[in-house]
Amino acid sequence: MSLNSLLSSRLVLVTGKGGTGKSTLSAALGKLSSERGRRTIIAEVDVFRPSLTAMLGVAPAYAPTRVGPKLDICNVSWRDALVEWLEGSVPAPRVVKKILDNRMVQTFLDATPGVRETVILSRVVTLAEQYDQVIVDMPASGHAISLLGVPNVALGLMRGGPIRERAAAVLAQLSRPDTALTIVALPEEMVVNETIELWERLKREVPSLRMPVVALNRAATPSLSEDERRLLQRLVDQEAGLSPEARELIQAGRWEASLETGTADALARLTAELPAEVVSFARLGALGGGAGGPQRVVQQMTAALQRLSLKESSR
Ligand SMILES: Nc1ncnc2c1ncn2[C@@H]1O[C@H](COP(=O)(O)OP(=O)(O)OP(=O)(O)O)[C@@H](O)[C@H]1O
Ligand SMILES: [Mg+2]
Repeated sequence: MSLNSLLSSRLVLVTGKGGTGKSTLSAALGKLSSERGRRTIIAEVDVFRPSLTAMLGVAPAYAPTRVGPKLDICNVSWRDALVEWLEGSVPAPRVVKKILDNRMVQTFLDATPGVRETVILSRVVTLAEQYDQVIVDMPASGHAISLLGVPNVALGLMRGGPIRERAAAVLAQLSRPDTALTIVALPEEMVVNETIELWERLKREVPSLRMPVVALNRAATPSLSEDERRLLQRLVDQEAGLSPEARELIQAGRWEASLETGTADALARLTAELPAEVVSFARLGALGGGAGGPQRVVQQMTAALQRLSLKESSR
């Protein structure tokens, strides 16, 4: 899938290894979509400490909160999703309260596999009916697989009933051509391995998902020429006889060279082995969060997305 078809999808699922930049990319995608005039919501999934708070300056709750023109955020907690779902299925609020207060029911809900995942995804599908674009800041790799794999399992296990019905609705949405997946990766061998494995497993669990777009985050832009690389190698060979200052400079050069090589390797493997469309984002903001912190990184990533999108359209 191309970046521009991802940007125009109704439902965008963002996953990847922990700490790669999923929440940052989700926030940037949401900003871009709303700036382009579409009613957009960014949804975190049942998180205790939402990342969007630091990135957009407002804490997301279950009910959508407005954070900008055409941009809302929310946190899909499974308890709230369950209450909402019961309220939609059981006519009297008193009965809903009774059901939820009942210890047996609680035990049943906690013990029944798939209820949690199904009500969360079901809420996401409802949001997709209400907004032009829903961006889901999904859990990291393994948890994303468990979440997305549930509807298929539920369909296989249940002959009828409300959970099966909702699972079918979720699967229908996941199979639509306007549902997109993006996996965030870093230019490090381990993360690239996990990215490839994640897609292999997701493909097995949810065969109807379309090919992801991989966002290679914190990528190093090639800046060293071949001559400079050779010079660096010659200096490394003679390093022992050099002053500490010169050795420090050589270390910095080696670090830069290894980042660039890592980025090139990651790009080559992701393109060949997945094989997916890869878009790269440079290291942004100031190291350690500096001026502007996560909000600034989101802004810069939004601008980068805009540029990448325009570049792709002009190809
Ligand atoms: N390209 C980038 N350059 C510099 N810093 C970045 C970049 N992308 C993300 N960051 C920073 O890295 C940190 C982690 O990013 P983020 O929270 O988006 O990751 P995540 O994948 O959502 O993490 P988690 O798995 O914990 O949810 C944040 O402080 C963010 O500002
Ligand atoms: Mg996150």
